[in-house]
Amino acid sequence: MANDWWKDAVVYQIYPRSFQDTNGDGIGDLRGVIARLDYIKELGADVIWICPIYPSPNVDNGYDVTDHQAIMKSYGTMEDFHDLLTECRSRGLKLVMDFVLNHTSTEHPWFKEAEMNPNSKYRKYYFWRPGTADGPPTDWVSDYGQSVWQYEEHTGEYYLHMNAVKQADLNWENPEMRQSVYEMMRFWLDKGVDGLRIDQLHLLSKKEYLPPYEDYIARRADPKPFRPNGARIHDYLKEMTKEVFSKYDVMSVGEAGSVTPEEGLVYTGTDEHELNMIFHFQHMELDQKPGQEHWDVKPLELSDLKKVLTDWQKKLEHQGWNTLYWCNHDQPRIVSRFGDEGKYRKASAKMLAALLYFMKGTPYIYQGEELGMTNAPFDRIEDYQDIQTVNMYHKRVFEMGRDREEVMASIMAKSRDHARTPMQWDGSRNAGFTEGEPWLKVNPNYKTINAAEAENDPDSVLNFYKKLIRLRKQYADVIKGSYTLLLPDDPQLFVYERQANGQKLISISNVSKEEAAFYWPDGSEPGSAKLLLSNYENAGSADSCITFRPYETRVYLLA
Ligand code: GLC
Ligand code: CA
Repeated sequence: MANDWWKDAVVYQIYPRSFQDTNGDGIGDLRGVIARLDYIKELGADVIWICPIYPSPNVDNGYDVTDHQAIMKSYGTMEDFHDLLTECRSRGLKLVMDFVLNHTSTEHPWFKEAEMNPNSKYRKYYFWRPGTADGPPTDWVSDYGQSVWQYEEHTGEYYLHMNAVKQADLNWENPEMRQSVYEMMRFWLDKGVDGLRIDQLHLLSKKEYLPPYEDYIARRADPKPFRPNGARIHDYLKEMTKEVFSKYDVMSVGEAGSVTPEEGLVYTGTDEHELNMIFHFQHMELDQKPGQEHWDVKPLELSDLKKVLTDWQKKLEHQGWNTLYWCNHDQPRIVSRFGDEGKYRKASAKMLAALLYFMKGTPYIYQGEELGMTNAPFDRIEDYQDIQTVNMYHKRVFEMGRDREEVMASIMAKSRDHARTPMQWDGSRNAGFTEGEPWLKVNPNYKTINAAEAENDPDSVLNFYKKLIRLRKQYADVIKGSYTLLLPDDPQLFVYERQANGQKLISISNVSKEEAAFYWPDGSEPGSAKLLLSNYENAGSADSCITFRPYETRVYLLA
């Protein structure tokens, strides 16, 4: 088996559109990423994951690809990409690409040909079905709140799109299509790219729910409700490992919505090593009303968070591997969500980092998270660009007649654009992101929350992240050791122990605005506990009872 370097890595995720613009067009670019590599290196990250940089009409900001083997013009050229790779190498950084293989843009040449010519081989790269008397072939509804079928006049059939209308799903049952995708993956890995993040792998398997064309036409089989992570995915992934990943010393991470820890173990823990890691969403769904959409917000229960994170730690303790993340380009900012973006912004941002990153797994830090960047205060729909947000607004306000203020409140809590406002580099105009007009408004708090300011402030969230990453490396063995949750029912404190080779760490976090009393567990000797990390000054000695201040976190090494 190839070496597991990715187990010791810290990944920094870049959303290139919003990271750094260098030519004044208001859109981040590859030259901008190169310009900021030293910053990422100094943070202590080892790997960069860059969101899609392929040509795209940008209906979904690059997740609607028209050419998987080229660079989008506004991001630069293939030469810029090679420079980026070289510049990463020279700093000892690795580069992971985002790969969208559940769907292509409807502007993709494959789709265009499929659309115009029913006899083309590309017709079978996608899903086409005639409608029924009631309309679309199935009643499946997408996360965008629409039917997943779009009628196409030219051939009088519908095509499948599990996401936006202009993202047509690829047919993974077609072996020729699969080989075409593997070829595109190898194209990047042959260039020396260090891994791939696979978009929406939970959607690839459709065979179980959608009968093949002939059976559907002849009504020999009926469609079923769609379920993510269908069984065929594991066959595809085994084949992908054989055809692609096994040929390189690279990392693979898949986005797997709706996945349980049991399924997570199958994805990452089998002997076939389908994937190194997956992103699950269970901890990201805890502030959502059960059975409703992610827009329908409810307060987080700490006991739920403990349960979910602990389940994943335990289930993947001996086999498989976890990702550790709070933020990405699809999630609102964690400090605004599970922390406090006001008075305790710094304390709670640090606490959330310490709470997660002493667990076992590979940390993923999303641009600006290390600064404690917050949600944007935009209260007008015109300030949002994200297709998911805009579609939802139209559906709820205009089709369902729901209260505009209530809909805006959901958007202000949960829109993906909160993660996508430009990176806040300094206090100059547009936060140092662009000299032009940014494609999405800058968060007005950039004057106080920015990288330049944080670098000079010993107490900044950024400096806390640096320290935390150093500690993770220093205690790499114990961080790969066993995990025990303590005080499962405590409504304020999240406490766990990590243990290996006679070393023990304890991480204690107050996930609340109120003070909380912590009593050392029986048998521990607080006197000999060494404080490794904390987010308050004068953390004091390890008495038998410690009063944790709002959002206080401490990590101790126990004798
Ligand atoms: C993934 C991406 C998201 C995108 C979707 C469709 O969930 O993270 O940004 O909208 O896939 O490609
Ligand atoms: Ca630019």
